[in-house]
Amino acid sequence: MPRKIIWITGGSSGIGFATAKYFLKNNWIVIISSSNIEKLTNAKNKIINKDNIENLHTINCNITDKNEVKKTISYIENEIGNINIALLNAAAYSPNQNQEFDIKNYELLIDVNLKGTLYCIDELKEVMKKRENTIAIVSSPIGYRGWPTSGAYGMTKAAQLNLSESLFFDFKKIGIKMRVINPGFIDTEATRLNSFKMPFLKSADFAAEKIYNGLVHKKSFEIFFPFLIVFFVKILRILPYKLYFYLWKKIGNF
Ligand SMILES: NC(=O)c1ccc[n+]([C@@H]2O[C@H](COP(=O)([O-])OP(=O)(O)OC[C@H]3O[C@@H](n4cnc5c(N)ncnc54)[C@H](OP(=O)(O)O)[C@@H]3O)[C@@H](O)[C@H]2O)c1
Repeated sequence: MPRKIIWITGGSSGIGFATAKYFLKNNWIVIISSSNIEKLTNAKNKIINKDNIENLHTINCNITDKNEVKKTISYIENEIGNINIALLNAAAYSPNQNQEFDIKNYELLIDVNLKGTLYCIDELKEVMKKRENTIAIVSSPIGYRGWPTSGAYGMTKAAQLNLSESLFFDFKKIGIKMRVINPGFIDTEATRLNSFKMPFLKSADFAAEKIYNGLVHKKSFEIFFPFLIVFFVKILRILPYKLYFYLWKKIGNF
């Protein structure tokens, strides 16, 4: 049986990198891509060994560049093989503790997290059609509802979540499975920018195991973890505004 192939965008660090290691360990062919060639090379050097050298591929691809995305997908499909799972994980993150509205930040996050993700989907839908392959978007529970200090990032994650739900229906018709991954706080380069104490903080390896098991062994549309914190946020999602705003006032004087 041919080996299965996963393409992970933003595989040079954090959750993407840890997930790449996990899939490699489980004998998948793994392609990691990211925009920073040095980070990508470092990532490769950290995982590669004589046993997995043939199974790991790295491609420098900035997802905000439509042509790079097109070339990357066409290279993988023609030179490596059919992509079974595309893990659209790459994202930019910038917390906004000062609660200042900065349009440049919105533009950056829209370019990477939204337009970048859309460029990937636009190409993947052509090659994956009728193959029953999976496109999994790494969103965030922050997208369930508007949180203080996270206007730009939260907005892009909410949009990704909404997009995944919508495409779940539309892509079913063309034989592509859409899934969404909503991790709680995971210790990565991105979250090290946070100045607050993150409840239930887990390692990237923890996230990788959950993502692997969710994608490979389960069929549910949403993969979320750790259960307690994300379940709590799911409850926040259904609270009436009055209560929701009151809670944030109590939690952090927002
Ligand atoms: N950590 C958490 O607590 C948490 C919680 C919920 C959701 N998430 C989501 O999980 C995903 C991974 O986040 P992380 O925490 O692992 O962050 P991270 O370590 O900062 O990883 C982000 C990855 O995205 C890549 N990237 C950034 N801009 C890119 C671009 N323009 N083109 C291609 N790749 C790009 C980065 O590589 P280069 O710099 O080399 O391009 C890096 O590999 C994100 O979607 C994030 O929103 C994280």
